[in-house]
Amino acid sequence: MSYYTFEDFYKNTVELSFTDHPYSLTPKHVWVICRFKGQWLLTEHPRRGIEFPGGKVEKGESAEKAAVREVFEETGATVDALTYLAQYRVKGKGGTIIKNVYFATIEKIKIKAHYYETNGPILMKQLPESIKNNDKFSFMMKDEVLQRSMEYIFKNKILQL
Ligand code: GTP
Repeated sequence: MSYYTFEDFYKNTVELSFTDHPYSLTPKHVWVICRFKGQWLLTEHPRRGIEFPGGKVEKGESAEKAAVREVFEETGATVDALTYLAQYRVKGKGGTIIKNVYFATIEKIKIKAHYYETNGPILMKQLPESIKNNDKFSFMMKDEVLQRSMEYIFKNKILQL
């Protein structure tokens, strides 16, 4: 199955599809599941908590460029290879957002004095089982987007352990 619909942490409806840009060819948001030397690379957002890096696509920028830029700004990491996985649409109270999900392998991580909007990189050998009830994690990590993306990554051998 390549299409899922569910409610997010805030009870907004999410549509997630593992097909090529089903909702927009020019999505305004990106989210990047990052892997560095056998570990997951995440970032700590000062308010939301731990999450995979991502953010908004700037004017005149491609979604891929935004993905690479956001990973560097939020974690200091340089993307080696970027693979498109899926796109999702969230219908919230304030409007609809459309986000591309990528998988990235990381070449190197530069330790910086300051990180744009975050407290910097977090490396994890394994993601905890119970992220949903874990206050340290961001709401973005608490709906089916993460779970389905992980299933897709392993099923399609985008990452082999
Ligand atoms: P700024 O970054 O400060 O401009 O904040 P914002 O809250 O306006 O951000 P944004 O436009 O990124 O998101 C608007 C709303 O969309 C959020 O408050 C969430 O409800 C929702 N949203 C954004 N990203 C995600 C996501 O990855 N997953 C889910 N489920 N909802 C999201």
